[in-house]
Amino acid sequence: MLDRRSFLALSAATAAAGGLAACAKKSDTASSGSSGSSGGTITLGFSQVGSESGWRAANTQSVKDAAKAAGINLKFSDAQQKQENQISAIRNYIAQKVDVIAFSPVVVTGWDAVLKEAKAAGIPVVLTDRSVETSDSSLYVTLVGSDFEIEGERAAHLLEKVLADHKGAVKIAQLEGTTGAAPAIERAKGFKKVMDASDPTWKIVASQSGDFTRAGGKQVMAAFLQAHSDINVLFAHNDDMAIGAIQSIQAAGKKPGTDIKIVSIDGVHDGFVAMTKGQINAIAECNPLLGPQLMDIVKTVHAGKGSTLERWIKTKEGDYMAAQAAAALPTRKY
Ligand code: AHR
Repeated sequence: MLDRRSFLALSAATAAAGGLAACAKKSDTASSGSSGSSGGTITLGFSQVGSESGWRAANTQSVKDAAKAAGINLKFSDAQQKQENQISAIRNYIAQKVDVIAFSPVVVTGWDAVLKEAKAAGIPVVLTDRSVETSDSSLYVTLVGSDFEIEGERAAHLLEKVLADHKGAVKIAQLEGTTGAAPAIERAKGFKKVMDASDPTWKIVASQSGDFTRAGGKQVMAAFLQAHSDINVLFAHNDDMAIGAIQSIQAAGKKPGTDIKIVSIDGVHDGFVAMTKGQINAIAECNPLLGPQLMDIVKTVHAGKGSTLERWIKTKEGDYMAAQAAAALPTRKY
């Protein structure tokens, strides 16, 4: 990343003011007041990616519930999947002098400038869920979230199980997450790594972003099926896109889970329901319930002990085949 320190020195104050205006409507603040620390209470500014998926809804709820339970004053904003909204929100939190900033970055690149502003203001930053690429590792304290490359690998291993009795060509359609987002880049990478080592007859014949949404999954899958009528596997980077794609598969007169085997990632409630119906064959779980860990991290960082934390606090996750779904569904927490 480029060092734009000199530019920032001039523009930070104006940008912060602009950010305040830009974010005012999107902010759904659970806080009491517009400035940072209130008494002994820690104020956390949290910028969420958006509300694109069931995973994201569960993650947002987890953060809000955990902040309340921990007695942390949460300022929450939804960036609607736009990096510029997240940058504005972070500048807003800097201007408000919050104690800690946490955010789940919509894409991996383009954060150095605003992170340097936070550092200059003495406000520690914690990444949740997704990583960033930065030239300066001191710009954030830690990341709490999944290993997306491993999730991609796990999805490919699940597909090996799903295809255990399959004979003939394997023509895979891949529904990618948001372009430039860590889970989209790394899940594709992990899946391909295992796929290339596993079986040379597996081919990805179509791959495009469905932006992690049901509508995106539905639309892109419809186009895939028109261009490639012989697709017999779908790897979707999340359950919501798989669920959207199921509608297009049915509209094309094919049976999801049978004519087209489906493996996805997340393990949200509706994904499990689709597995109980045999429409999704397997899911690699990605755990969104990061709120309690995040609040512990925020308290540690606020106490000046951020250096005791690991650089990446990884989430524990499981794998599920469709046959396990009915038994697991009642115990699912999201
Ligand atoms: O970053 C996590 C991913 O973001 C989830 O897998 C997906 O559903 C969400 O939109």
